[in-house]
Amino acid sequence: MASLTVRQLDEKLKKQLRLRAAKNGRSVEDEVRTILRSAAADTDTFVPAPNAKGKTERGAATDARRVLLIIGGGIAAYKSLDLIRRLRERGIAARVVMTDAAQKFITPLSASALAGEHPYIDLFDARSEFDVGHIRLAREPSIIIVAPATADLMAKMANGLADDLASAVLLATDKKILLAPAMNPNMWSNMATRRNRAQLEADDVVFVGPNAGEMAESGEAGVGRMAEPLEIVAAAEALLAGNSGVLAGVRVLVTSGPTHEPIDPVRYIANRSSGKQGHAIAEAAAKAGAKVTLVSGPVNVPDPRGVNIVKVEAARDMLAAVEAALPADVAVFAAAVADWRSASNSREKIKKTGKGTPELALVENPDILSTVAHRKTRRPKLVIGFAAETERVVEHARAKLARKGCDWILANDVSPETGIMGGDSNTIHLVTRDGVENWPPQSKNEVAAALIQRIAAAMGEKK
Ligand code: C5P
Repeated sequence: MASLTVRQLDEKLKKQLRLRAAKNGRSVEDEVRTILRSAAADTDTFVPAPNAKGKTERGAATDARRVLLIIGGGIAAYKSLDLIRRLRERGIAARVVMTDAAQKFITPLSASALAGEHPYIDLFDARSEFDVGHIRLAREPSIIIVAPATADLMAKMANGLADDLASAVLLATDKKILLAPAMNPNMWSNMATRRNRAQLEADDVVFVGPNAGEMAESGEAGVGRMAEPLEIVAAAEALLAGNSGVLAGVRVLVTSGPTHEPIDPVRYIANRSSGKQGHAIAEAAAKAGAKVTLVSGPVNVPDPRGVNIVKVEAARDMLAAVEAALPADVAVFAAAVADWRSASNSREKIKKTGKGTPELALVENPDILSTVAHRKTRRPKLVIGFAAETERVVEHARAKLARKGCDWILANDVSPETGIMGGDSNTIHLVTRDGVENWPPQSKNEVAAALIQRIAAAMGEKK
């Protein structure tokens, strides 16, 4: 039977089989027998993950916790070896596909040592096509993780290319795909990659990272580092739990827009906040599976989809709505709340009397962020504020982080020349107790997506 199979093979497969047989010191017939035996022994199971005692039991991974890990080419590929280990520690079996480029960074042998079986590397590889086949590789796992996801792999996916095993599997699958991109910051911010990312998000692909920080290239820093293995595992676990996003089940509260502080029935104190950033955050959180309440001041942007929206006018109403929305796991205070309100709210329109200008006495509004961050009970695990500054942005943000008692501040320069207030883009400095991340200029939607990734990672760590 084995020799018959060998005879029927096309030239390319025959050549690969001969090479493989020579490498393993076997005859071609013996090699085919070995392949068929291992295929029969494996039937349709992945090599199971170790049990709690660290021992591997055949059949232990018959539940839905099976992933196909596609390793793309990039220096971050070394982290994918740790990812395999982390997945297996949590009882998640990983079958591995490596692209040609990935094999320039790590060897199939090291991946096989960790995964417990040889990775799949070639669309026309005798083993890939005989024992499993790219269609089975695509259908068998519960989810597919691509880590590192290179700019090239993202471009192929966004355009439906299938010229190697990895891209063929990604095109053939009907399973959720989790991408952990890793690339040079210039490649990540390139318009082509942005378009591909937007397309993939529209296609329901889930992203984890990339994070900001030092790159492998010396002196290079920015957004492009692959998410850490544990962050990827947390995102994978959320997807495996049947949840459709990295924030599935997480309760997120967002404030957005300006407040209007009445002076009389027709006049009010306000500011130039458009609500674009806060609304984008609420929508991105909802898209990531979170249960979102958006408390919004008066804005002209459309209501985000999939969120519970509470519309308010003045700061005190916003505070009341925020408190009513607790408990929440995460609170993001993006609203530009008026610091002061008129001491009196005249029931009638204030008239010109001809006896000089009226005095406008002000009183301070409650600080909603600080009130929630200092709560003894029902304080969200992660309280995030914004700092709109016109000078010494990071320094002021650091002081604000301490004063307001929140966990993170997203600081931005709102000097009129930046066009940020009311505009579509934003340059963020993420200030935490651990330090500062300088994000590149991005659209407000991209800032929202990046923030959701960071929140998902932080929530994963807090579990
Ligand atoms: O206005 P300020 O720079 O202090 O705002 C910093 C942060 O505090 C923002 O996240 C804003 O939403 C929040 N804030 C608030 N209530 C206020 C003033 C500011 O929640 N009264």
